[in-house]
Amino acid sequence: MIKQWQAVDDYIAGRLIARPEQQHETLDANRRSGLPAIDVSAPQGKLLHILSRALRARRILEIGTLGGFSTIWLARALEPGGKVVTVEFDPRHAEVARANIAREGLTDRVDLRVGAALDILPKIEAEGAGPFDLSFIDADKTNNAAYFNWALKMSRPGALIIVDNVVRDGAVADPSTKEDSALGARALFDAVADESRVTATAIQTVGSKGWDGFLIAMVK
Ligand code: SAH
Ligand code: DHB
Ligand code: MG
Repeated sequence: MIKQWQAVDDYIAGRLIARPEQQHETLDANRRSGLPAIDVSAPQGKLLHILSRALRARRILEIGTLGGFSTIWLARALEPGGKVVTVEFDPRHAEVARANIAREGLTDRVDLRVGAALDILPKIEAEGAGPFDLSFIDADKTNNAAYFNWALKMSRPGALIIVDNVVRDGAVADPSTKEDSALGARALFDAVADESRVTATAIQTVGSKGWDGFLIAMVK
């Protein structure tokens, strides 16, 4: 990562993101608990928050909770009575997320499910927890195309489906890459390209998390 990318993320957060101490409580707890430092950055979290508010989201689906940093940004954006349904495979991560979400006073707005997303998503669908206004996909990258299809199945018209980590230092466009996450991103691009029910783009990002990107699909 280039040093200035971090400096600019810090500058953006310093000017535009309120209550940095609350951000730090969750991120500090995640690091103290030994969770990997792969939470979305604060500017990225706020982007998710703004998009959710623009959609007046009441139902949000998240795949990949980690310590709940992105979950908290999403939950704070909900309309009254809304819910984030978030899925996390690792019970240790889920426990840290639960504590962070409780500290932020958001327990009643977050429905945290522990298990492999491909096992849990059919249950979420069967329960009728959707249709979702926004889905944020940020778990194991090899299943991204499958997660996209589940999110699409449970989305309302006009919903957004956002997928993190689709650029991977440019590996997505490197024909010789053997990186699983880049191959997963490519399978996702193929699935989205072939899907006439969405219109989509992807935006490359640099920042505290290096060079990566978001795919954003809108359900027609
Ligand atoms: N969205 C979080 C970061 C998620 S990191 C944030 O920005 O704060 C990716 C998470 O996906 C990890 O916690 C990992 O345990 C989880 N994960 C990996 N495989 C999974 C699976 N099959 N189902 C659900 N979660 C999974
Ligand atoms: C990495 C970054 C992420 O945002 C993520 O969800 C998983 C892994 C990484 O940089 O390794
Ligand atoms: Mg990610």
